[in-house]
Amino acid sequence: MTGAPVICVDGPSGAGKGTLSLRLAQGLGWHLLDSGAMYRVVAHACWSRGIDWQDEAEVVKTAMGLDVRFVPDGNGVTVWLAGQEVSHEIRSERGSLGASAVAALPGVRVALLDRQRSLALPPGLVADGRDMGTVVFPDAPLKIFLTASPEARARRRQTQLLERGESVSLPRLLEAINERDRRDSGRSVSPLVAAEDAIVIDSSDLSADGVFRTAMDCVAERGLELR
Ligand code: DC
Repeated sequence: MTGAPVICVDGPSGAGKGTLSLRLAQGLGWHLLDSGAMYRVVAHACWSRGIDWQDEAEVVKTAMGLDVRFVPDGNGVTVWLAGQEVSHEIRSERGSLGASAVAALPGVRVALLDRQRSLALPPGLVADGRDMGTVVFPDAPLKIFLTASPEARARRRQTQLLERGESVSLPRLLEAINERDRRDSGRSVSPLVAAEDAIVIDSSDLSADGVFRTAMDCVAERGLELR
């Protein structure tokens, strides 16, 4: 399906996919696709234009005409929408809610598919998302499903938000995570589910280094770092 090898890193919010994907991409010298950022930027563009996140026709139109650039930096990607940097805004709690809402619209997922696949360029791509292994890159040579308990994910999310100056209580974050999990797992298109051939890693009791080492063992087993 694509010209370059792809490592898929799927799983629920807060399991550490972003950190793992970035480290894999940096370690291997591969490209990075943060597909969640695509849904986030669609939601942000709709919000700033007063478009309802449930209005599928308008949201799809927005997704198709998106003037967006993802520029790699040392921490992942910087996101530019119509010449304005929106990296911070799209990662707020509002951005998370909006992304989850627009990601449930089938037309939006189709609208973003080609954009995602076009990033599978040599020497390889690390693709971070929910349906990378099941829908976008079904032939990928390595699929990792990274998960963690809701409590561990809520704690991590709180630390992340605090670092950005946003203070949200743990029970509220846990509720938001459970709600998002329900929505991401229960939707009819591309529900959050591990691909049959995915390797499941539970990061609840693992450090970021531990997760990275486990994933690199899988990469070595498949001979991917030698390409
Ligand atoms: O990974 P993230 O938290 O930035 O993702 C934001 C939202 O987008 C989340 O609710 C799940 C959704 N998403 C998706 O449905 N499919 C993807 N490939 C990536 C993200």
